[in-house]
Amino acid sequence: MSKNKRKLLLLPGDGIGPEVVRETKKIIEWLNKNKSLDFHIDEELIGGASIDVHKIPITDEVFYKSLECDAVILGACGGPKWDNLEFSKKPERALLKLRKELKLFANLRPAICFKQLVDSSTLKPEIVSGLDIMIVRELTGGIYFGEPRGIQPIKNNERRGINTHSYTTSEIQRIARVAFELAKKRKNKVTSVEKSNVMEAGILWREEVQSLRDKEYKKVNLEHMLADNCGMQLLRNPKQFDVILADNLFGDMLSDEAAMLTGSLGLLPSASLGAKDKNGKIRSLYEPVHGSAPDIAGKNIANPIATILSLSMALRYSLDLDKEADLLDKAVQSVLDEDLRTKDIMLPGKKLVSTAAMGDAIISKLK
Ligand code: IPM
Ligand code: MG
Repeated sequence: MSKNKRKLLLLPGDGIGPEVVRETKKIIEWLNKNKSLDFHIDEELIGGASIDVHKIPITDEVFYKSLECDAVILGACGGPKWDNLEFSKKPERALLKLRKELKLFANLRPAICFKQLVDSSTLKPEIVSGLDIMIVRELTGGIYFGEPRGIQPIKNNERRGINTHSYTTSEIQRIARVAFELAKKRKNKVTSVEKSNVMEAGILWREEVQSLRDKEYKKVNLEHMLADNCGMQLLRNPKQFDVILADNLFGDMLSDEAAMLTGSLGLLPSASLGAKDKNGKIRSLYEPVHGSAPDIAGKNIANPIATILSLSMALRYSLDLDKEADLLDKAVQSVLDEDLRTKDIMLPGKKLVSTAAMGDAIISKLK
């Protein structure tokens, strides 16, 4: 397949989304110009930004574009402005629709503590230095999507809120397979997380992961851990982990926690991948783990690195451009080596830079 003329769809979204995606776009444009790539860049509204114009969080047109492109790069969805909308109309529904309809069941969230940022973590340097964890989060099942769901009136003016947590054998095993495959290329260890002490679905999760390991991945070390303990262990001794395998909800919580070990939520990229279709194509969406951060939006102080590293993951996992991904990763390291810091990772003695200046500095290192 030619490496040219591939389509990237940018969905900046809300809050700091537009600012961090703008920096990422500059990098794509730089790669187009200087590495003779020919990405076609399209940009569309999503989330609250789409609600403001179209009254819905994602239009059919944008949805179809996301089906057709080679990779989607998303900023963030949501913010206080849209908090009071009816649940089905909220900005976040767009993101969940994309995940579900594009069948992006595997969410990879690497938490790496860069040596330059050891002191930016709220944890002691010896706890986090050298940290390299991969969180594999199931993304299209569990309590995020289970039925029945809703809020129902019951007697005596009371209401009941219902969500359903459910997983099938095949849903569990296809995400476990992703975790085992990644572990083989890393330190060969998977920690599978659930609450089998209180949930039947947790018991099934544990059994199905174990059975896949025993059948197909005998050489991978598998350990099971209760999710609450995993939350605690991440703070106590995070370097015991290699790949953490979790369902949608536990993966959501543990990945925010793991992010802070690295110094800032502003550093963590993520890749959401689907299964191969009949043409061998894998649908994919890349986004920073952080949200829309409305409190700092529009101030040119957000850290664009999580989104820029999400582009690097896109280059690696969807676009077959490992060399360019390496180049970009190195450029990020170089600006950190030069002590440039956005506000979230700023420390005394370092140089404070804006969102845009961080993007420009990374581009200058690509050269
Ligand atoms: C994430 C976010 C989303 C989630 C929200 C914005 C719906 O927290 O990607 O981690 O809960 O999955
Ligand atoms: Mg989250």
